[in-house]
Amino acid sequence: MPKPKVLSTNPLFGPAREILDKNFDVEYWDKRDHPNEEHISRADLLSRIREKDALICLLTEKVNDELLNAAPNLRVAATVSVGYDNIDVPACIRRRVVATHTPGVLDDTTADFAWTLLMAVARRLLEGDAWMRAGTWPGWDLDQLCGGDIWGKTLGIVGFGRIGRGVAQRAQGFRMKVLYSDQARVAPDVEKSLNAQFVDRDHLFAESDFISLHVPLLPDTRHLINADSLNKMKRTAYLVNTSRGPVVDEAALDAALAAGTIAGAALDVYENEPRVYTGLIGRKNVVLAPHIASASIDTRTKMAVMAADNVLAVFTGRRPPNALNPDVLDN
Ligand code: DGY
Repeated sequence: MPKPKVLSTNPLFGPAREILDKNFDVEYWDKRDHPNEEHISRADLLSRIREKDALICLLTEKVNDELLNAAPNLRVAATVSVGYDNIDVPACIRRRVVATHTPGVLDDTTADFAWTLLMAVARRLLEGDAWMRAGTWPGWDLDQLCGGDIWGKTLGIVGFGRIGRGVAQRAQGFRMKVLYSDQARVAPDVEKSLNAQFVDRDHLFAESDFISLHVPLLPDTRHLINADSLNKMKRTAYLVNTSRGPVVDEAALDAALAAGTIAGAALDVYENEPRVYTGLIGRKNVVLAPHIASASIDTRTKMAVMAADNVLAVFTGRRPPNALNPDVLDN
């Protein structure tokens, strides 16, 4: 019996490859074989997917009607990411293709990194680092690189899912007041254990010293941070984004930083990755990271294993544990 054919747009990590290689006929796209390309090109993806039964992809590849049309045999598309704005789930439902993602395993690593960014921007770490590397530190001085305090301040978390709650949990060590906004309030015992208070978004914008974004990219979260919301924030506030780039209107953020509407921003994600809004690049009060919030070896390995296991489930009669559209398996 020939094994089902899988296309993986990344070589993944050893433990994920073990699962895949044992059970499937796998084609891995590897940038090491394509010196001028960072990711598989769309044309290459559309051609390689033709005979495949399963796809393991990254958030940089769109699974939409165009791809599904090119893949008549496809049964499952597994993105190695928790965010799945790269997947047109309704299109997958129409084609009866199972779509899966990787929730849960990256929450703590991502919450850690939101804190990394928050602390780096508030304490002006990169400005200091640049001095040290350039040999331009003039020596200690009293008013040098004075940033914002973190301990005892108010942290506003927009989106109180697993990652947002992880960020709140870490705030306790800094004796912070935690506000959160979301579509619904979490259970009282969760609020109590995280010492978090449910408020509306405008209240959160007005009261927070740090605002950390943890919402998925949806039509109503696109440009949730815009000129209007930035104007509601404190002039001393810092914005942290580890969610999705288009949640922040980068042009509006740049204008707000230029005008001193807020004190600083730390971003891991961008509206048009891998590009960054040009104005932000020259700003000292901005920390820019290349979408690495979940990038620990352990976590990225777990994500890859999870994607491989979801694919395996589809071909071994198990329910894929992380299906976004499990109903396609039922009818
Ligand atoms: C995700 O998983 O959605 C992150 O953006 C990358 O880990």
